[in-house]
Amino acid sequence: MSSDESPISSFEVKVSDLAGRLGTYMVNGRRVHTPELMPVVNPNRMGVGSGVPPSELLESFGYAMIITNSYIIRRSERLSEEVQKRGLHGFLDYPGVIMTDSGTFQSYMYGGKSGGEVDLDPLDIVRYQSSIGSDVGTILDRFTVPECDHEGAAEDLRVTMERARSSLGTGPGMELAVPVQGGRHLDLRTLSGKGVFDLGVGYAPIGGVVPIMESYDYPLLVDVIVSSKKGLGPSIPAHLFGAGHPMVLPLAVALGCDLFDSASYAKFALDDRYMTRYRTLHLGEMPNLPCSCPVCSTRGPEDLLSMEKDERAGLVSRHNLWVLRETLNEIKAAIMEGTLWEVVERAAMSNPSMYSAVRRIKEHARYLEENAPRTNRRFMSSSGLSLARPEFQRMHDRLSTFASPEKLAGAVVLTNWSGSHSTRIIRSMWDEQPDGMQPIIRTPFGAVPFDVDDMYPVSQSIFPTPGNLDAELEGYMKGNYLSFIKRYDNIIEWDGTGEMPLDAGHHSPGDLDLRRARCILRMQFGKIGGSWADEVMIPDSGPISIVTSRRTGKIRNIFEADADGKKHHLLSMRAEDGHFNLRWVAAVRVHGASSAPRFRVIVEEGTGDYNAQGFNVFCRFVKDADGEIRAGDDVLVVGERDELFAVGRAVVSSRLMVDGRSGIAVKVRDGAKKWAV
Ligand code: GUN
Ligand code: ZN
Repeated sequence: MSSDESPISSFEVKVSDLAGRLGTYMVNGRRVHTPELMPVVNPNRMGVGSGVPPSELLESFGYAMIITNSYIIRRSERLSEEVQKRGLHGFLDYPGVIMTDSGTFQSYMYGGKSGGEVDLDPLDIVRYQSSIGSDVGTILDRFTVPECDHEGAAEDLRVTMERARSSLGTGPGMELAVPVQGGRHLDLRTLSGKGVFDLGVGYAPIGGVVPIMESYDYPLLVDVIVSSKKGLGPSIPAHLFGAGHPMVLPLAVALGCDLFDSASYAKFALDDRYMTRYRTLHLGEMPNLPCSCPVCSTRGPEDLLSMEKDERAGLVSRHNLWVLRETLNEIKAAIMEGTLWEVVERAAMSNPSMYSAVRRIKEHARYLEENAPRTNRRFMSSSGLSLARPEFQRMHDRLSTFASPEKLAGAVVLTNWSGSHSTRIIRSMWDEQPDGMQPIIRTPFGAVPFDVDDMYPVSQSIFPTPGNLDAELEGYMKGNYLSFIKRYDNIIEWDGTGEMPLDAGHHSPGDLDLRRARCILRMQFGKIGGSWADEVMIPDSGPISIVTSRRTGKIRNIFEADADGKKHHLLSMRAEDGHFNLRWVAAVRVHGASSAPRFRVIVEEGTGDYNAQGFNVFCRFVKDADGEIRAGDDVLVVGERDELFAVGRAVVSSRLMVDGRSGIAVKVRDGAKKWAV
């Protein structure tokens, strides 16, 4: 679709975790909340025998999108006649989003090797899908098998892209799905993804992965998803073609897949295979049904086994659909809560190939970092598996450049990180710290200055207690600790039991607030145009007042008085992640001390005035953005001539705000208009 036509679809991301996201996909006025799975509907089996009617998929199970095969419909005279008469939605009796596939998969299944093709004209099948009223139609891509060599895969890809280009505009009223191919060749996967992005289509399946999943090569699946997504970018909804087992869903969502399709729920059922979250069981070998879905809560395996085959397969299909629904619900709740990694780790423990796949994520730590939000509400880590999480690299980068505002030659180190949850220990570390000593807490992230302990992920994190880390986490921590601690001449370690070993100074609680604020600003923003962030925002030009919580002693707000004694709000503290929100005066200082594009979201000419009035920035109006911006970062909203319109908080990463066509990019906190007096 060319950019001057209004798109028939939109995709909006509201919340993200790792590279996974909660999104809303709209096409032809129909809406799907992602991540979501499409049950595959076999047009020959609809409501016949063991088939589950599409209307039930929507009404009972909440599946708001289904997929069926246009090739199967078209080659049957009976089906195609009926579909022509009633339209696809009428024929299927389904008001949700209907996606159709093209026949590519049949080529793969029955046409032999890669490139073997069913008897179809590539443009005909696209026109046909649109003519029967499909919402999302698929081009006739070439299915490249994993064994295919680089040359063959590149040739397949060339053909796929040529067909995609000529298919553009031939299916009116229908979203065109252009699958990413490339086999196991990761450079081709990225190239293919980039090609699909450049076409400007609004929907991207990742294809050719069924044989990879069938051979349990989940590590390769990780490589293929990430390489494809690198080319596609985050703005297009990504559909993992043929993935429909509960075990693979958390991993695939965490890597940025939004949609899935499953024929397995029905195929497995025909063989009496019963899905659970972590494996597939055989009905004949089960003492009971370990599930409380409507099928299983009132039946035992013997009840099902005594039924006619069709009736049994119908019920097992429904159970399988409930397990998939439950898995998706858990994934969505986890994204909302920021705990998707924990769900991925649980899936890793279900199966050694899945474990290997989760380990493979570490090779793609940079991809994950670019997509993951800056902060979350909770961080749990039980093993070295979680070293792939962006929090480790980000903390490492920040800590290795961090310098305290005053030069402290010694350090008093709390070695028991669990102790940072104890009020008694925190009191000692604060109130009794010897003068000239930097209080530090040793954590698996590294040696963290106590001043920044409230910042995510430190105080939100839960690790095994000291002595119970696995070798990988222990090794990581030791390496970091030793390199950081070298900065100090004098180290006192304390495990938090008994009295602190060196009780020299006695600080009243307020003494250290300013140092704490300065340290937090340094961790959060680093250097701004050669100066530390705190020197830019709190430049000693006027008297500072720090308001703390009476109950917890934590910093709440920072004000600065001008020559007339008028107080200006500089910063406010976010209780949930211990980071500062910039208020207008601080934003002006950051803007003045830095140059574009650092910290900036650059908006389209003529739209900045809205933001100056306090309205949010939409992705559609973002022209460019600092590549380092992640969801949750505080950002400056500026025009093309770097005029400052507003300050606010990024909802999505920089690449998504630049590529995206719908949704909020920045929630504006303070607009320039309000401050122009
Ligand atoms: N179904 C499963 N995999 C594929 C694929 O790669 N392409 C198409 N069109 N359909 C599929
Ligand atoms: Zn069940």
